[in-house]
Order: sequence, then structure tokens, then C-alpha cells
Amino acid sequence: MQLIQNIAELRARLGGERTVAFVPTMGNLHEGHLNLMRLAREHGDCVVASIFVNPLQFGPGEDFDRYPRTLDADCAMLRDLADIVFAPPAHEMYPAQQTVFVELPPVANELCGAVRPGHFRGMATVVLKLLNIVQPQTALFGKKDYQQLHLIRQLVAQLNLPLRIIGGETVRAADGLALSSRNQYLSATERGEAIFLHQMLQDMRLDILQGERNFERLQQQAVESLTARGWSVDYVAVRNQSDLQPANPVQDKPVQRELVLLAAARLGNTRLLDNIEVCLVS
Ligand code: PAF
Repeated sequence: MQLIQNIAELRARLGGERTVAFVPTMGNLHEGHLNLMRLAREHGDCVVASIFVNPLQFGPGEDFDRYPRTLDADCAMLRDLADIVFAPPAHEMYPAQQTVFVELPPVANELCGAVRPGHFRGMATVVLKLLNIVQPQTALFGKKDYQQLHLIRQLVAQLNLPLRIIGGETVRAADGLALSSRNQYLSATERGEAIFLHQMLQDMRLDILQGERNFERLQQQAVESLTARGWSVDYVAVRNQSDLQPANPVQDKPVQRELVLLAAARLGNTRLLDNIEVCLVS
């Protein structure tokens, strides 16, 4: 595994590679990232991971300053999984003030985008920069950030970028909590409570599979039960997988079969995200 921090050196090193598979990250790696790295190996002769905590995707008062930066430990974890770790300093990615941004479709202003204005614009801008720098044939992102993955798929399709996007399944702790670098912000009591988010989504999924079609009511009940347990809820939503539009059944319009249940809520100062897909059989 080779650590490269400079764009020109990375491009020179990648020049001779036939197929490159790329996993962009912000570091502080966990099993979810490592799973993507293993999947990447099936899609490229050369596997590249990037580690860059992107200031553009954090809003004022968010956790940019305290976001865990653990480059040495990350490189040790990637030793046998990546051929190259690209970990540029901020001045390499943004040598001058960034004034060109990616403009995303309106769904970027819903769900997480409604509570984190500008987050997806900053995310998509850095992802496009990284894709242009690495020029992979395949790039892999976790399904845990479902809306992010959806927007990246739109970016790649609508800007005709010549690569394939693969979504890796969410990796969970034994009790079901989706792995996230932010889980380490949780106190012991909060960590115990955190699994309720996933349990609540599983209950909603079961209700839908058993025939419940009043999604508004399901969402409302979920928000109420989270709030009653001390969570501060950003959203609980039943959406279509294909376009992330609300899955509300309208009279004479059938419900789409492939749905996703998404939730974001805070425990203390820690914001947790989770989602599960639901496929209706009839
Ligand atoms: O999911 C992340 O870690 C980040 O949003 C990404 C895709 C690496 C862009 O900074």
C-alpha cells in the first residue's frame, strides 16, 4: 500500500493501471469502509481509497473541527486492502477558494438536505473533483448514506461520467446499529438507546409488508415514539428507491414496489442516520 498526498504524483502512479476501483472516504475507517474496499477488489486491478475530511460539506456549528482524523490507524487498516491511499491536505484539494460547485436536483434539499443546507452541494463538488483526479472505472459508496448515493448516481448519469457506481450494503454492529464514524460520539447510555432507530425502521418495514399503506401515519407514529424516548427527530420517511420521492399512495396510482425507509435523528449531540429497503411482493 502506497500513501500519496499529491495530485500530480497520484496521476503519474495511476497512468499505467488498466482498471481502477475507488472508495472515497473521510477516514476514521470502520468495517463498513473495509467491506467496500473488499468489494472494490472485485472491480479493479488497482484499488484506491481516498481519505479527506471535506470542509465544503460541513455547515457552521457542525463537527468539522472534531471529526476524528486517524490517518495512521486508517493506513494500517488499509495495508492489505488498498494499493493506494490518497490523503491530500486541504490546500491540495482547494488551492484557491472553490467558486465552482455542482448544482443538484431538488431532492438534495429534502431529508438530510433540509437540515444540512449546502451539505450535498459540498459533497457532490468534492466527489466530482475526486473522480476527476482518480479517473476510476468503478467507484463505491455505502448505502448507509442512501441519499448521498442517490445523488452521486444522478451526478454520474446526468454529467455522463464514464464510470460505474456501486452501492455497498450497510454494515451493522451485532445489535443492529449501522456502523458510522460518528457512533464514537455516543455516551454509553446513548449507545444503548441508539439501536432503537434500526428497530423502529424494522417495525415499519414489517407493518408495510403486512399491508399498511398509510405511510403518513407510520411516519408520524415513528416520530412520536422516537421523541418520547428523548430523540430529536430530523425525519422519518417512506420514499421510492428509484427517485427518493415520497411513496404516498395516491388514489388510482399504485404504490411503487421498491421502497426505502429513511430516518435521521439526534441523541444528545450525535446525529444518527439509518435506512432499510423494502420490496413489496404484491
Ligand atoms: O461519505 C463520505 O464519507 C463523504 O461524504 C464522501 C463521499 C467521502 C465525500 O466527502
